Amino acid sequence: MFVEPCNIAQRFRSLKGRVFVIAELGFGTGLNCAVLCDLFLRLSNPPDRLQFISFEKHPLNKQEFQSMAERRSTALPIYTAIAKTYPPLLGGWHRRTLTGGKITLSTFFGAADTGLMEMLQHGSTRYVDHWLLDGFAPAKNPDMWKKNLLLNLGKLTAPHGTVATFTAVGQVRRDLANAGFAMRKVTQHPYKRHSLAGEITRPGNTEQVISEVMVIGGGIAGACMAASLAEQGIKVNLLEPQIDTERAGDISPVLLHARLLADDSLGALVRSRSYLHSAAWLSSNPEFMASGVLQTLGANTDLEKLQRLYARYQHSGAWIQLLDAADASKIAGSQFKNPALYFPDSGIADLGKLRRSLYVHKNIKPIKETVTGIHQISGGWQVHGVSTSYETRDLVLCPGENASDFNLLGYLELAHTSGQLNTLSQSLEINLPIVGEGFVCPKFHGKSATIGATYEHSTWPQARATAHNLDRFKAWWPQISRQALEIGTSDLKKVSRGRRSTAIDRIPVIGPVYDTDLQALPHLWLSCGHGSSGLSSAPLGADIITSKILKLPPPTDPRVAEHCSSLRFRARQKKRG
Ligand SMILES: Cc1cc2nc3c(=O)[nH]c(=O)nc-3n(C[C@H](O)[C@H](O)[C@H](O)COP(=O)(O)OP(=O)(O)OC[C@H]3O[C@@H](n4cnc5c(N)ncnc54)[C@H](O)[C@@H]3O)c2cc1C
Ligand SMILES: C[S@@+](CC[C@H](N)C(=O)[O-])C[C@H]1O[C@@H](n2cnc3c(N)ncnc32)[C@H](O)[C@@H]1O
Repeated sequence: MFVEPCNIAQRFRSLKGRVFVIAELGFGTGLNCAVLCDLFLRLSNPPDRLQFISFEKHPLNKQEFQSMAERRSTALPIYTAIAKTYPPLLGGWHRRTLTGGKITLSTFFGAADTGLMEMLQHGSTRYVDHWLLDGFAPAKNPDMWKKNLLLNLGKLTAPHGTVATFTAVGQVRRDLANAGFAMRKVTQHPYKRHSLAGEITRPGNTEQVISEVMVIGGGIAGACMAASLAEQGIKVNLLEPQIDTERAGDISPVLLHARLLADDSLGALVRSRSYLHSAAWLSSNPEFMASGVLQTLGANTDLEKLQRLYARYQHSGAWIQLLDAADASKIAGSQFKNPALYFPDSGIADLGKLRRSLYVHKNIKPIKETVTGIHQISGGWQVHGVSTSYETRDLVLCPGENASDFNLLGYLELAHTSGQLNTLSQSLEINLPIVGEGFVCPKFHGKSATIGATYEHSTWPQARATAHNLDRFKAWWPQISRQALEIGTSDLKKVSRGRRSTAIDRIPVIGPVYDTDLQALPHLWLSCGHGSSGLSSAPLGADIITSKILKLPPPTDPRVAEHCSSLRFRARQKKRG
């Protein structure tokens, strides 16, 4: 009903080398999505990539989706990948990358008209190649077939884009014609009587096609940025002086952990959405070990706080669980005294190995280079390296703590905090990282258990930081575990030190660069200020910027991008005068 009338298989074949975008109203059990992804993957000569966007007002929860997907995955193996990173029940956008980047699935949980408006506000006009309108009958479900909603479909449709719809109702046919589609009735005998299909009649697209972007800085923010663009078929020149060597900031192990807030603030939204997006994104990277993380009691975390966090998010799925002491002990492999929050999708990485793994993509060209300055030229930016100059239209700055070296970033309000981890020489038998008062991480990549981290507002000597980590751990561990431990200073061996760059309001800085008149500088983007949660905010930051450059639907609730925008510094400075 949705595939044959619009010749989808034939059109897939004719679009080799580009992305084909399908959007659906009514995701339901994801059957249409799985069928079309399967068709795309089985073609011998498909387009480069498939983007599937779907809107669903009453989504299944992850458990329901997974058990249904299991039943269908023999016939449609792609169901397994869709189910693995199926989003939590939180409203708004959720973007997932499947099959190594060949398929991007964006689901919007909420009313279709709201999601379509957000796509338009995001600039995703002339975008969709094929629409599937799979709501229930208009008489039963008028919300899905509103005149204005159908008008917006027209605005969002790419040249030669098509629509196929379950219903053949005359009003829908007229409203789609009014939105710019040439409509026809399709016989669906013997399944039902008729459906509708149509093609947009507007003239072709004149928008410039973006094929190449430059990224400065190859830390986790720059590496995620390059990978996110590369996944969307963009060639990336990635400039980084320490491209193939270890850097001081290559901390190991680092944790992907949800540092949640229990309130309804925008800060809480940024933290939860960053964590959830990044956990799904990192789950397919072999350098990320999804060990899970336990969050237990500490000086700033009592049982009531854990309960409040759980109460705030428990409705949205099993990504957050509150375990009693017995269950926490089983998961930790250590005798816990208290309940703990369990985050099964959290995990551990070696920052250096992870960032370098992200450089490996046919669309990414890593270039060993230190940038000494950038300036605006007609239609883009000139980038001065130590030995060479480069020109680019779109430029993304991911310079970490060196942001202040770039004149145009002088308005950012960032502070730097040194930090240190210590590795124990004796083994500590725990199965996964435990956070509470600092954290302890089990043996990873040959390093035995690690404790940390310090927060040094003025940099401490290494010995002082070691003593701090040891004292804090020795005081905390007996409060949470019955497992006996005898550790002295001589048991702390290896040290990992680095500096975190954090915005003074502790919110990451993501999006356009602004001038003193509060105007966004064209084609200049920024991802920094990731503080002590780079693993959580850098992947989402990258997808936010990619979506803005390419005018894709937002990867998450658009309020996250607004809250992380560096406009906040310019606006405050203007107010202060
Ligand atoms: C002790 C410690 C523990 C931590 N633990 C965790 C943790 O458990 N979980 C977590 O998520 N995060 C953790 N972090 C934080 C995490 O390391 C940072 O959030 C992250 O590294 C920031 O990445 P970035 O890419 O923004 O910056 P950086 O890592 O600083 O990268 C910036 C890059 O830009 C390059 N660059 C700068 N200027 C130029 C230029 N002019 N030209 C070209 N290239 C340039 C630099 O060479 C550098 O490679 C920890 C940090 C510390 C210090
Ligand atoms: C016929 S089912 C879709 C079946 C689905 N395409 C599949 O392949 O499993 C229609 C779906 O539309 C959803 N829906 C109804 N009204 C909606 C609205 N206004 N916005 C978004 N989704 C809506 C329903 O919850 C239902 O899941």
